[in-house]
Amino acid sequence: IGKKIKIGIDKIGFAMPKYFLDIRDLALGRNENENKFVKGLMQSEMSIAPVTEDIVSLGASAAEQILDEEDKKNIEMVIVGTESGIDQSKASAVFIHHLLGIQPFARCIEIKEACYGATAALSFAKNYIEKNENASVLVIASDIAKYGIDTPGESTQGAGSIAMLIKKDPKIAVINDENVCQTRDIMDFWRPNYSNFPIVDGHFSTKQYLDCLVTTFDEYKKRYNQDLCDFDGFCFHLPFPKLGLKAINSLLEKNVEKETKNKFLEKFHTSIIYGKRVGNIYTGSLYLSLLSLLENCDSLKAGDNIGMYSYGSGAVCEFFNLTLAEDFKNHLRHDRLNDFDNRKQLSINEYENLFFEKIILDNEGNCDFSNRKLIQESDNAFVLEKVENHKRIYKKIK
Ligand code: HMG
Repeated sequence: IGKKIKIGIDKIGFAMPKYFLDIRDLALGRNENENKFVKGLMQSEMSIAPVTEDIVSLGASAAEQILDEEDKKNIEMVIVGTESGIDQSKASAVFIHHLLGIQPFARCIEIKEACYGATAALSFAKNYIEKNENASVLVIASDIAKYGIDTPGESTQGAGSIAMLIKKDPKIAVINDENVCQTRDIMDFWRPNYSNFPIVDGHFSTKQYLDCLVTTFDEYKKRYNQDLCDFDGFCFHLPFPKLGLKAINSLLEKNVEKETKNKFLEKFHTSIIYGKRVGNIYTGSLYLSLLSLLENCDSLKAGDNIGMYSYGSGAVCEFFNLTLAEDFKNHLRHDRLNDFDNRKQLSINEYENLFFEKIILDNEGNCDFSNRKLIQESDNAFVLEKVENHKRIYKKIK
């Protein structure tokens, strides 16, 4: 029997738009007490995507930060997890493959199951590499969360993209074999094709998220004979950080010593630093909490196990775990908070104008953004420059 190879996350990149809204300004604009959003949801800011930044430009920009020419020669598959698709037929991964200049003999697809899509993508990537040891797979989680003006979900919007290079002997974290999934056919959050915004049963969705976590983790413990003490930290899908706090507390409920509780809670608060400033990025949200934990926590070390909870409405969830690689700290950024500080703050009026601007086509199916300030202001590598004859044209600007 051959030696089992270790497969996992070798590099992680993150891209977000240039603009953000302070959650207190949203509260003011909607006549809500700001503490409802700041304390009740534990949110501080939301990333706002202009019309010139979509899931393709954000996804390609996140990947461009991490890939070198050698990586681009070895990638055999690009998988994008998203629920903000730009086309019903053509996969966003095909555009991204072209923009990045990845070698041509690759497979490119898009996966959908609400916020769960990127976790399914990781699993497919791992299976592929088990059979093709020297290949790499690029997994991208890219989404723009929009609930609409003056809706209960408005305070939980966001935009951004995570890119992960998956290969053998990874430099950041090994994806272990143990995992448990659960599927429930429920209507907690969905977006019919005829609707621009999701339909949400908000409180029902939070109950389902928590109940799926507890029952899936119980099954995981039973199947693999593991317990809390087998983990050094947890990361959760974060539609808003307070739900993550409820999630960690629900795992810590039974007979856990104060010291252990504090250890997990301290790590949890490190895992929400980025999410608090970006909002919900659907498929990427769990991986943004992982990035936040790994880049900001001093007490994690090689060999530590991180429990990961992925939840997509509808609903499919998965509990799985990662083991941190030998030298993981040297393959991450430690100055990322500067990127958040360098964003441009929007007033509530600017937010409404920007966030709800649509592509408006002329009779020939054209729309040109090339002279817009939005393009010059972007810090990302790629933007949507125009639509020509119904075809999206992206531009490399950095
Ligand atoms: P709401 O119903 O307007 O808010 O919207 P609420 O009344 O439940 O208040 C929120 C919290 O603020 C509560 O805390 C209040 O007590 C507190 P809790 O009791 O739950 O701990 N609060 C205050 N705290 C301090 N000072 C105050 C104050 N006032 C109130 N003055 C809701 C909340 C989550 C329903 C809404 O934002 C929403 O619908 N969001 C979208 C749905 C969502 O995020 N669901 C999460 C689970 S489903 C999921 O994760 C999947 C998803 O990512 C999509 C996908 O899979 O694709 C969404």
